Amino acid sequence: MGQLTTRSDDHPSPRGTTRSTAESSDLEIITPVHRDGAQMWRVARDSGTLDLNTSYAYLLLARDFAQTSRIAMLDGEVAGFVVGYLRPTDPGCLFIWQIAVDESARGRRVAARMLDDLLTGLPGVRTLETTITEDNAASQRLFASFAERHDAQHRIEPLFEESDFPDTGHDAELLHVIEGLTPGS
Ligand SMILES: CC(C)(COP(=O)(O)OP(=O)(O)OC[C@H]1O[C@@H](n2cnc3c(N)ncnc32)[C@H](O)[C@@H]1OP(=O)(O)O)[C@@H](O)C(=O)NCCC(=O)NCCS
Repeated sequence: MGQLTTRSDDHPSPRGTTRSTAESSDLEIITPVHRDGAQMWRVARDSGTLDLNTSYAYLLLARDFAQTSRIAMLDGEVAGFVVGYLRPTDPGCLFIWQIAVDESARGRRVAARMLDDLLTGLPGVRTLETTITEDNAASQRLFASFAERHDAQHRIEPLFEESDFPDTGHDAELLHVIEGLTPGS
């Protein structure tokens, strides 16, 4: 952290976006604008886990997929982000492409609150999908807990095998499908 701070006043405040005080600090979950792509790229780079895409990709995603993305502002700085999209063949399905929280802010329900805020803002979503590698316990728990909290079914199946990736050293990605989401659940 400690880099460019994006002020929430610059942002639109669409339905489902919460500006609230978290259990411990001042946490705001807001919809990104394209400039936030820079900090999303920085959080992804520092996560130590995510595949880092180009900075251009995060700027573009923050612009064109803002309604299915969120950033978490903790004490006035970007401390996390989630990027998703509605699947073109199934707009009732929200695919979470990447989610990350700065190490210093982990374990404070920042990620859980970003996902809940997305769901609140997307009342047409019935299914959430994401992929997770087998060794990522934090992410597995994040999504299992989300399913439990929203009283939804959660199943896991193979999707991308290790051999599907052209670059070496990429683990297989399992598809997590969380179904039966309802507005207000
Ligand atoms: C995964 C990640 C986003 C979780 O963020 P977070 O803000 O710390 O998570 P939360 O505090 O909202 O916790 C949500 C749930 O996950 C659990 N959890 C969080 N970190 C955990 C860990 N290291 N091990 C086990 N469970 C963990 C919490 O206990 C909580 O479960 P509960 O609801 O049953 O109490 C964060 O660890 C991270 O950025 N990791 C690196 C990037 C990454 O792997 N992203 C996911 C792949 S796309």
